[in-house]
Amino acid sequence: MLLGLGTLALLLIIICQFTAAKEAALVYLFPASLALFLLGGWQYLRNNYRLIRRDHHFFIHHTLTKGDRYYRFMEQFKASIVNETEAITLMANTSAALYEVFDTFSWVGFYLVKDADLLILGPFQGSMACSTIRYGKGVCGTAWKEKKTQLVPDVEKFPGHIACSSLSRSEIVLPLFDSKGEVKAVLDIDSTRKGNFDETDKVFLEKLTTLLSRHLYT
Ligand code: SME
Repeated sequence: MLLGLGTLALLLIIICQFTAAKEAALVYLFPASLALFLLGGWQYLRNNYRLIRRDHHFFIHHTLTKGDRYYRFMEQFKASIVNETEAITLMANTSAALYEVFDTFSWVGFYLVKDADLLILGPFQGSMACSTIRYGKGVCGTAWKEKKTQLVPDVEKFPGHIACSSLSRSEIVLPLFDSKGEVKAVLDIDSTRKGNFDETDKVFLEKLTTLLSRHLYT
């Protein structure tokens, strides 16, 4: 709206150059159109860039494709965790950043390997969740046991899925490894949309969990 008014004012200035009202155009119209352009530009930036509240201010344009969004996210996220080695801190900020940038994620969090048979709930964003999960149980316990990403298009078709939230329809769970290849934690992301996760999510989130594993467990 403001950008439109600014454009109109500029057009009027150009028209006035060819009429006797040159001085009026410069004295009145030019400052007005400049103000409208500046206000309109700020309004556009404010409405179209998702600002994630962190020290380094992530800017992710909401019209980006999923792949581009991940690419921008990874570029900025890597820079923001350069010196981070505390597991709880890094997991808390990873959950917050993913939850804010990807609005189809309804729950984002970590489960940590407590002992040979138990995962315990770690830092997360979203509604309250199951506190513990046994080895090999649910999507998380399966990712731990099979040591590989579980991409679940429809949770109702996953045998033994644990429904911490009845709203969850699809899920992806990725293991984090130590230098010996042992699973130390899993990153769990839910969506209320069936089929929300695809190969793009898997590729980029595996890059993320590899980065986190390197920071925390190697
Ligand atoms: N659905 C997961 C349980 C964790 S909640 O989604 C946060 C599972 O089946 O392991």
